[in-house]
Amino acid sequence: MSDSFQRAPFLAGDGDVADLRDAVSAIARAGYCEDAVRERLGLADLCDLHWRDLPVYRDERLAERDPLSLAIDLLLLQGALNPGEVARLLPASSREVLLRTGLLETDETGLARARASLVPVGRRLIFADHAWPELPHPGHATVASDQVMAPGFDSRYLARATFRRPVGSALDLCTGSGVQALLAASHARRVCAVDINPRAVGCTRFNARALGVANLEAVEGDLFEPVGEERFDLITANPPFVPSPLDTLRFRDGGRSGEDVQRRIVAGLPRLLAPGGMAQMVTELGERDGESIAGRLRQWLGGAPMDIHVLRVATHSAAQYAAGHAKGADYASFLDSAGAWAANLRAQGYARVVTVLVAFQWSSPDCGPPWDRIDQSPPPRRAAGDEIEDAFRAERLARTPDIRRPIEENGLLRAGPVAILDASVLGAAIAPKAKARRLGQALEIEHELDPLERQFLAAMEGRFAAPELLRFCRQFDAPEPAVLGAIRSLLRKRLVMIQERG
Ligand SMILES: C[S@@+](CC[C@H](N)C(=O)[O-])C[C@H]1O[C@@H](n2cnc3c(N)ncnc32)[C@H](O)[C@@H]1O
Repeated sequence: MSDSFQRAPFLAGDGDVADLRDAVSAIARAGYCEDAVRERLGLADLCDLHWRDLPVYRDERLAERDPLSLAIDLLLLQGALNPGEVARLLPASSREVLLRTGLLETDETGLARARASLVPVGRRLIFADHAWPELPHPGHATVASDQVMAPGFDSRYLARATFRRPVGSALDLCTGSGVQALLAASHARRVCAVDINPRAVGCTRFNARALGVANLEAVEGDLFEPVGEERFDLITANPPFVPSPLDTLRFRDGGRSGEDVQRRIVAGLPRLLAPGGMAQMVTELGERDGESIAGRLRQWLGGAPMDIHVLRVATHSAAQYAAGHAKGADYASFLDSAGAWAANLRAQGYARVVTVLVAFQWSSPDCGPPWDRIDQSPPPRRAAGDEIEDAFRAERLARTPDIRRPIEENGLLRAGPVAILDASVLGAAIAPKAKARRLGQALEIEHELDPLERQFLAAMEGRFAAPELLRFCRQFDAPEPAVLGAIRSLLRKRLVMIQERG
């Protein structure tokens, strides 16, 4: 990439739209989608894509120059194609529209480079500014503050965690390239996408046109300000969340605490979330020793009766986080930068920074006071929206005041295949804790089991327990309230479920 790198204008005239759609279809026909690209690059997850490995990808993974390799090189790895390669990837009308709309440029030798990336997220293809605008010196130069962020690990986590049930309306705050809004457009009748950066709004509109998405409106503004009094069934947000000593990147920096934008988003939810709806956010949060993250989120809600589900997917020590964000042209300036990042985290009292997927729903008064629940899992590698919704259902069910009745009426069953991980302790007088994990789930949550839960789960031989379950449970020689307590706990952990009627 040349130093005189120019960014895409993200402007398409009405006359360009049909050709632009054809160009995206031609690229998709080359097999260009998240799974195929990940597989071709030999990655377990596209989140693991790293500029340091560009030579490895090119020399080893893309050696066979078929259309899929060419698309990856040009549109994801910021590489250059010769005229023959471009012609193999794109028909003439597609080449022309990409040149006309400023997404492609050729130099005097005929080499073509993309001025924006086309990033596969699931089966959607999303245009955005390049992930590494600083090539060939990544980490040295500064990135423009109005950079439209290419979908990254955080975008993918949120996209995978978002539920995909049909809904009426969706709102995507901090839309950037529009990735979450474009995904929501496939299951919401109407989507509103908001960003404060006019280039991001332009990019989202451009993407909607290129993908033929007609039910999406992109508007420029500060968070909820452009949407008035409307309430939405789905709200998604991937805000700038990095606790940063700098204020240079609008898509990244969330002020010194990292909370400047996310705090306002959470505070605005009670006004914007429709009854029965769900708000989902990916973010990083600084964590202080002895302080509950869920408590902080609840404080931001300002007393609104909402249930909160927090899924912790990664933890970085303060020093790791500082080193990960530090930049410098030489080692001395890199160390200075790491020192400034670490000092900021210390000043905030943060011992570590955690990556979380947070979901909010209105609380049901039948299930007692609003609750918050924290689970921990490696980041999801595939769609996990159903499982997040299930966590809310399971928590509510576990809080049903008379849990005995639905069990007796409908029967209880194991929620699916479950692995019990028994701990053996040798040479110490500590009670070993068993753990259990549902198999075949996108979220790999390990739950601790107390002895009664362990016994009960293991005794559920078949899929179905008899409706007269409590009699059956007497064999455990435990008082009924204790057995019901164990059942509530197993329901909450989604290890058992109450059979649906019919
Ligand atoms: C981390 S990027 C997320 C992009 C995209 N949603 C995704 O998932 O890839 C954050 C976005 O928030 C936007 N933003 C920052 N402050 C904002 C505000 N007050 N109101 C609306 N958008 C804002 C930035 O311009 C940037 O596009």
